[in-house]
Amino acid sequence: MVCLGNICRSPMAHVVLADRIAAAGLGDPRRVEVVSCGTGDWHVGDPMDPRAASTLRDAGYDPSSHRARHFDDGWLAECDVLFAMDEQNLADIGGRSDRVMLFRDLDPTEPGGIVPDPYYGGEDGFTEVLAMVERTSDAIVAALPAALGRD
Ligand code: 4NP
Repeated sequence: MVCLGNICRSPMAHVVLADRIAAAGLGDPRRVEVVSCGTGDWHVGDPMDPRAASTLRDAGYDPSSHRARHFDDGWLAECDVLFAMDEQNLADIGGRSDRVMLFRDLDPTEPGGIVPDPYYGGEDGFTEVLAMVERTSDAIVAALPAALGRD
């Protein structure tokens, strides 16, 4: 999961997708591991933005273990799939490939959109991000058994 600061969008996607994967019984890190980072390094080591954390907490998730990390090319080598939150994030990690795409390419209601950056806006932006992230994470988990070779 890749965004700009790794304190708002990609951490929310990280926590929600990891939660869904665990609920589906696929949470063994030897099978599927979710990680996240930002293309900018300003917040490295920081916890999630308090607005992202409270939006997650209010919806029943635990945001407490997140610490921001910075993207480098090693992530392209180590991760099987990279999901960028917006077009700029996608460009900043080298653009599309068969393993690099927009997170919302898998959004079942509006595929191919971006996850808008809520950092400079109000609380509503975080609620909107959570809804996008929840339905897209459900679709990713639904696709995982086939991707892992066990339908
Ligand atoms: P994110 O949001 O990319 O969703 O984590 C941002 C967080 C911090 C900044 C920009 C966007 N920033 O400029 O510090």
